[in-house]
Amino acid sequence: MTALDASGLGFAAALQQTQRLISAHLDLRLAGEDTLHQAMRYAVRGGKMLRGFLVLESARLHGVAQAPALDAALAIECLHAYSLVHDDLPCMDDDDLRRGQPTLHRKWDEAMAVLAGDSLQSFGFELLASPDLGPNALVLIRDLAQSAGKDGMVQGQMLDIAAETATTPLTLAEITRLQARKTGCLIAWSATSGAVLAGADSAPLRQYATALGLAFQIADDILDIEGDADKMGKALRKDSEAGKATFVSLLGLQAAKQRASDLCDAACSALAPYGDQAENLKEAARFVIARDS
Ligand code: IPE
Ligand code: IPE
Ligand code: MG
Ligand code: MG
Ligand code: MG
Repeated sequence: MTALDASGLGFAAALQQTQRLISAHLDLRLAGEDTLHQAMRYAVRGGKMLRGFLVLESARLHGVAQAPALDAALAIECLHAYSLVHDDLPCMDDDDLRRGQPTLHRKWDEAMAVLAGDSLQSFGFELLASPDLGPNALVLIRDLAQSAGKDGMVQGQMLDIAAETATTPLTLAEITRLQARKTGCLIAWSATSGAVLAGADSAPLRQYATALGLAFQIADDILDIEGDADKMGKALRKDSEAGKATFVSLLGLQAAKQRASDLCDAACSALAPYGDQAENLKEAARFVIARDS
């Protein structure tokens, strides 16, 4: 088993291995002791690294080598971290706690949070432009620009902010569209990245990720109501207190849980072409709807 081959490990151990590998790669790639480097590393550390895990699994399924796989996994964790640092700012969600630690603007200040977020985004793209990613990197870079930007995550964030002041609550279709962009796009990029790097068909993984991304967000909405703030490491019940429409407010708790479970089944079914090799990805889908953090 190579360092990247998590196929023989159970999911929990494989996810921990991912966290170790990506954290070590972060220290290697983002060494530097000035405040900006410290703040960037602070932002990347401490998460579940689920998106990085999806990259490494997708890479493993397609025989992508360790060095490019780790660069891509770290790149998406940097993009994700940037989105959270900016999401927590006072002008956005105004949160003090993230992953059980002070949010970046609380630990330093708002200017540092804006700048660390900015540089995490450009650093993510720099990683994807590493020579060892080979000729398909350009497709991956374009996909990430689209998934992260005006038609992807940023658009989702914009729709989410607009929903806070909307006079009528969003419909289920509108929430689904919003969440597909806010959370779904980066998850889809992650799950398809190995196939893209290998020049293989990414359709089954895209189908998996579409269901997984939605299930992930429904679970987030359920955890906002039922979760434990200490385990989650962030403030909860903000959506319900703000009277924001979510999957739970529209469907009710039981139907939301059923929908998440159906989406988990759909995600697993989409993995049929990979046979036994996709067991970790199936477990990831089950983890997403059963997680408590
Ligand atoms: C949190 O994502 C933000 C959402 C998109 C709901 P994660 O739950 O993956 O956060 P970390 O990276 O594990 O902290
Ligand atoms: C944040 O969504 C998603 C992104 C940063 C793209 P939320 O605002 O719902 O996430 P949490 O609840 O702060 O983690
Ligand atoms: Mg937000
Ligand atoms: Mg938030
Ligand atoms: Mg949330």
